[in-house]
Amino acid sequence: MKPPSLPDLAVLDAEGITHVWRNACPHTGGPLAPPGVLPLSRDGEHLVCQTHGALFRISDGFCVAGPCAGAWLTPAQPSPDGAAAPR
Ligand code: FES
Repeated sequence: MKPPSLPDLAVLDAEGITHVWRNACPHTGGPLAPPGVLPLSRDGEHLVCQTHGALFRISDGFCVAGPCAGAWLTPAQPSPDGAAAPR
């Protein structure tokens, strides 16, 4: 039986564009963060995997550092109301 998936991660980039990513790290397939946590870097430019610290650009999901550097997050659909977590 497949475990329930975690909610997608919706975040606004510096230009105010909403990006939505599956909460799954390409390194192991595990979650980037537990439910209810938006794992932003201190500068607000990247999502940070809470397991091994990989950094993903918010704008395109590309991994710029960490054990899966060069990999990509999987895009997801925005919620019907267009909601995104604040930065
Ligand atoms: S599980 Fe995300 S960096 Fe290892």
